[in-house]
Amino acid sequence: MIVLGIETSCDETSVAILKKEKQIEILHHQIASQIEQHRPFGGVVPELATRQHLLRLDPMIQQAEKESGVSIRQLDGIAVTRGPGLSSSLLVGLSYAKGLAFSYGKKWIGINHLEGHIYSPFLEQKTLPTYPHLALIVSGGHTLLIHAREAFVYEKIGSTLDDAAGEAFDKVAKMLALPYPGGPEIEKEARNGNAEAIAFPRSMIGSGDYHFSFSGLKTSVRTFLEKKAVKTKEEKADVCASFQQAVIDVLIRKTCDAAKDLGVNTVTMSGGVSCNQTLRQQMKTAVEKQGATFLSASPVLSTDNAAMITAVALNRFQAGEVESWDTDVNPNLRLA
Ligand code: KG4
Ligand code: ZN
Repeated sequence: MIVLGIETSCDETSVAILKKEKQIEILHHQIASQIEQHRPFGGVVPELATRQHLLRLDPMIQQAEKESGVSIRQLDGIAVTRGPGLSSSLLVGLSYAKGLAFSYGKKWIGINHLEGHIYSPFLEQKTLPTYPHLALIVSGGHTLLIHAREAFVYEKIGSTLDDAAGEAFDKVAKMLALPYPGGPEIEKEARNGNAEAIAFPRSMIGSGDYHFSFSGLKTSVRTFLEKKAVKTKEEKADVCASFQQAVIDVLIRKTCDAAKDLGVNTVTMSGGVSCNQTLRQQMKTAVEKQGATFLSASPVLSTDNAAMITAVALNRFQAGEVESWDTDVNPNLRLA
């Protein structure tokens, strides 16, 4: 089975062609980042994102056909992200996918972006997910703990009550006059800092549930910066390292507690924040110490991408699913 997938839920335009036989093979994968367009505004501007998707998508599909040697006629189906995300961005991808499917007489399917993130650590191993497993999704828009019981059966067991982890990284970076997106910048600064220099709060770490809160931590950094002018490079690095460690400690504690309580043997992590090497190393050590397997994908498959969307579609098409022509985008689409 060969499927073309499109992802335009936020600020990355991405196209992939995947083939599934015994293993999953990525025949083509391209991600056009819009960071340069949004950076001057300090965040994603929906109108700008929509225009960029419109400009880029058609040439990218043509390039995908050319470089993969797979023509649209040879496809078994077309997949596209239908939510959650920015409505106008989603509409560009979904309208394109539907139009392409209709004109070539192909089946199509709308995919939940979060389900894509759940597939990405397995896609790195060229396989479909194994069940049950616990998935931590940490991105700019989401901080979620999902119990994946079996194929297509998910239970949300934890989420953030306010800011997403990535959002906290971006907002703290702004306070420190670091460029957008803030996550990678904070990680860079933190390498030269002392993670124990400032005792920032580990909000809700002992709450007895699997929910998160990062807004108090963000305010605590703001208050610290207001009280104590951070002048030197070393001081800035200490703030970054201490903030980063506060986020990491909570993510690890909640994930490990959930894995233990559910009795799952596989824990995965995906989303932009999962690119953070300190988080990755510490999470891997903590999960493995509990006797479970830890999986995460390379950065290109961890952030928003079409390969993960296409992988879900392969599984859903093979299970016999086909989308109806009147299915629309859903910016608030839920997974569970
Ligand atoms: O998954 P993603 O590309 O997009 C969505 O939000 O769906 O995640 C982007 C988020 C941003 O908030 C960015 O600052 C954060 O992921 N991020 C990081 C790192 N790389 C990206 N946060 C911490 N450390 C990183 N290395
Ligand atoms: Zn995402």
